[in-house]
Amino acid sequence: MSYSRILATGSYLPERVMTNAELESLVDTSDEWIRERTGIERRHIVADGESTCDLAERAARAALESAGVDPAELELIVVGTTTPDKIYPATACRLQARLGAAGCTAFDVQAVCTGFIYALGVADKFIKTGEVKRALVVGADTHSRLLDWSDRQTCILFGDGAGAVVLEAGEEPGIYSTHLHADGRYEDLLYVEGGVPLGGGEIAQGHAYTKMRGNEVFKIAVRTLRRIVTEALDANGMQPSDIDWLIPHQANIRIIEATARKLDIPAERVVVTVAEHGNTSAASVPLALDVAVRDGRVKRGDNILLEAFGGGFTWGSALIRY
Ligand code: COA
Repeated sequence: MSYSRILATGSYLPERVMTNAELESLVDTSDEWIRERTGIERRHIVADGESTCDLAERAARAALESAGVDPAELELIVVGTTTPDKIYPATACRLQARLGAAGCTAFDVQAVCTGFIYALGVADKFIKTGEVKRALVVGADTHSRLLDWSDRQTCILFGDGAGAVVLEAGEEPGIYSTHLHADGRYEDLLYVEGGVPLGGGEIAQGHAYTKMRGNEVFKIAVRTLRRIVTEALDANGMQPSDIDWLIPHQANIRIIEATARKLDIPAERVVVTVAEHGNTSAASVPLALDVAVRDGRVKRGDNILLEAFGGGFTWGSALIRY
């Protein structure tokens, strides 16, 4: 059996930056409150007309260029996204056409903020079974389009972006293991109404805005992420001290710190981008990974624990050797 190895990473953030100060003029909030409760200072927001596929393409091209891989060599493209450009075709198919990789397997995975981990887990299995040798995995979201800018509980949290990795089959890990979970009973705590209608020709039903019971989501996220990091370590007979980097989903600094405490991983070994990016949903983990690869923190041979939690609820982890 072969393993998947990350050849290279890439990412892209839209140009426009929205600060907490700007949000103060939209809702009853303050820079101080947002920083204290979430750790977020600013986030990037897509321009009018800019789509999830636009962000995904920029991130994918950066990863392919760093990997030295021609798109025509790709045998699989998986995009984790909850904000596809269209109901169909899949964003992965649109991306495939733009990259010039026609013919390979291409599909989207919808697991909200766990979207990239799910996409990585699926691509890893394609490679492990020997079905494909080279894959592109993208996490991309324009979650700002799903925000009610008068709801101070949600509009302060999210930003837009994309991250990508190129995977190749190899004899050694690579990806040691991935662990994917969901519990659909929590739908009422975090959801967006809308989608394919039950009858009639309307596209969205109700308001297609993120609705969230933040405090309850927070508590379940902390509890669940503590469990999942232990699951990933136990599956590989590893201790927290074997982990060089924790690269968590960037939703809230307090959730990140609680997970790091559980693992007893010092802050210097946790990659944190939430201050600059906010919660970019499926893009958050690959964006943080790319930042840490490009600034030289993550080096070849490092053991990295990736984890995420999101709407569904979905949650998952990937333990990898970079
Ligand atoms: N600015 C100022 N005050 C705000 C506010 C804002 N943006 N949002 C909420 N508040 C107020 C509340 O109305 C409440 O006021 P009250 O005490 O007078 O009723 C108070 O702050 C505390 O609200 P609470 O919801 O208990 O705050 P919190 O500490 O849980 O922080 C979140 C709120 C949303 C930041 C936090 O719950 C969170 O991050 N949850 C997880 C969300 C998440 O990650 N979702 C995506 C999952 S992938």
